[in-house]
Amino acid sequence: MSLNHDHAVDLTAAFATFSEPFAPRRVAHVDDFVVKIVRVLGEFVWHAHEATDELFLVHQGSMEICYRDRTVPLGPGQLHVVPRGVEHRTRATSECLAVIFERATTVNTGDAEESAQTAHEEPFVTGA
Ligand code: NI
Repeated sequence: MSLNHDHAVDLTAAFATFSEPFAPRRVAHVDDFVVKIVRVLGEFVWHAHEATDELFLVHQGSMEICYRDRTVPLGPGQLHVVPRGVEHRTRATSECLAVIFERATTVNTGDAEESAQTAHEEPFVTGA
């Protein structure tokens, strides 16, 4: 498995390798962290990550980070960090391409029940 340390990772090329929403791919590892890319379309399941923060950065389109008491809209070039332990979900009415930065051990659906949206070992894509 390439760790993508030998070339630039092109996000557009990496996104072009898959089309399913809420099916993250890994594009780089940074020490104990991983950079993932995901297509957001529709609503993800409500969940929290008890011990880990989670960063979202929008590459293309727009999306919302929903909390139970507020919503954070994100557009291209904007990022937001979901604090550990806080219930949240992502939502987009038209497809949004986003980058996620989080600990490699973080499961996308957090404490929510196992579902079709749960991703355990996201495939690695080179984006070359
Ligand atoms: Ni999350």
